[in-house]
Amino acid sequence: MAKSQTKSKERVAEHGEVFTAEREVKAMCDLVQNMCEDYSKRFLEPACGDGNFLAEILTRKLDSVKKKYKRSTYDYERFSVFAITSIYGVDIMQDNVMECRNRLFSIWDKEYKAICKKEVNEQTREAVKYILSKNILCGNALTLMCVDENQQDTDTPIIFPEWSVVGGTNLKRRDFRLDVLLKVGEKPQEKKQKSLFDDEDDIYKYLTLNPVTGEYIAKPIKEYPQLPYRRINEND
Ligand SMILES: C[S@@+](CC[C@H](N)C(=O)[O-])C[C@H]1O[C@@H](n2cnc3c(N)ncnc32)[C@H](O)[C@@H]1O
Repeated sequence: MAKSQTKSKERVAEHGEVFTAEREVKAMCDLVQNMCEDYSKRFLEPACGDGNFLAEILTRKLDSVKKKYKRSTYDYERFSVFAITSIYGVDIMQDNVMECRNRLFSIWDKEYKAICKKEVNEQTREAVKYILSKNILCGNALTLMCVDENQQDTDTPIIFPEWSVVGGTNLKRRDFRLDVLLKVGEKPQEKKQKSLFDDEDDIYKYLTLNPVTGEYIAKPIKEYPQLPYRRINEND
């Protein structure tokens, strides 16, 4: 039976919550199939709901990892984890965020168990849950701030980790503010005149200029030591 596209009339009215049907999701993902097949290409869905698009993208990434690496549990495991690190989402409703994380975990875990069988590693499963808890966040995609359980903005900006693979099995994490990332590529003349009343916590302090292109590049707000992917949650 097709999944319902709404949860309640109130949620449709208050948050525009109408989920995209599977046929449309697949048709839109087909337009970027090359990117969906690449475990390393990053996707961010800014109003992800329970993850209709992210689930399809993850499924396609895992299909491609499976095609290449199914004969080696060692390779399948690490590339499937790297695929998870490339998927990001934000939604204003806490229940959607939890459903999205759980859904992505179930898709990953089902394939992992089917392919790695007796080699399944509990630490790896926990690492994947941990990465999803950092990549799928409850926030307001318009103000770029985290929200509380009543969908009200908090004082915390949305912060995403960038995960980079180092040496084949390690992950390096650098955290960036989403509002800062959205300025990347702008040129300084596009920056508003700074006012005396500007908040001290100005996002421009997290931007620096690329001397070659003259465009802004983002500075991380925090960098972590690299760790083997199975132990990535030890950095917290
Ligand atoms: C039209 S639904 C789409 C959900 C999903 N992208 C899909 O295609 O199935 C819109 C989603 O945006 C969320 N939403 C509404 N306002 C938001 C905001 N300001 N920031 C983040 N998410 C928001 C709702 O909770 C809902 O899950």
